[in-house]
Amino acid sequence: MSDHHSEIDMSEVYQLPHQQVSLSDFPSDEEWILDIGGGGEGIIGRLKGRQVVAIDKRRPELESTASDALKLVMDARELQFLEKSFGTVTIFFTLMYMPFEDLDTIFSEIARVLKPGGELLMWDVKVEVPADLDPKIKYFMVPLTVTFPDGTTNETGYGAYIRNQNIESFVTVATAHGFELEESKANDLTFYARLSLRKG
Ligand SMILES: C[S@@+](CC[C@H](N)C(=O)[O-])C[C@H]1O[C@@H](n2cnc3c(N)ncnc32)[C@H](O)[C@@H]1O
Repeated sequence: MSDHHSEIDMSEVYQLPHQQVSLSDFPSDEEWILDIGGGGEGIIGRLKGRQVVAIDKRRPELESTASDALKLVMDARELQFLEKSFGTVTIFFTLMYMPFEDLDTIFSEIARVLKPGGELLMWDVKVEVPADLDPKIKYFMVPLTVTFPDGTTNETGYGAYIRNQNIESFVTVATAHGFELEESKANDLTFYARLSLRKG
């Protein structure tokens, strides 16, 4: 939705309250980091620079991203990398754009390209659709301040088709593909989950 602002009728949008995300640096040794849906603000590319391979299925999203990441137009449902290519996979406010029916394929692909013992880091937002929501509402939007470890901030907002979702919507599918939940944090409506891929 972020790329079609001009076509969006704001009366069809459910606004969530403004959220704060504090981004911690994460260890990644010398390994490649795959950032899925890494266009837009390119937050992970800005955090980890040239170690990041940012993929997005929409070329304009990558073209408008200012970061040192290597940017590739690619669909997460069909990753073009060999098995065990990455030490870390990140997915920052992108799961919210992915239909639930695609998640099996996407987590299977992530598990395939990640090294055993590698980590999957996910940031996203909890959405609870109110029972009395106006039926003409099609989308939700979450305004966000992202704070980097050095204290700089980025003001943004992400929006997608409205649906109920929470951390379990994604962790459940990931664990079915060999991931174990190592850590999770919630801050108001946003959540962060760190999972590792079982070895062997
Ligand atoms: C809100 S943006 C992500 C924000 C971005 N990570 C950032 O740092 O600002 C979500 C992106 O996910 C991309 N996307 C959605 N489904 C995808 C898929 N199956 N494969 C690759 N990219 C996808 C969209 O094109 C969109 O650019």
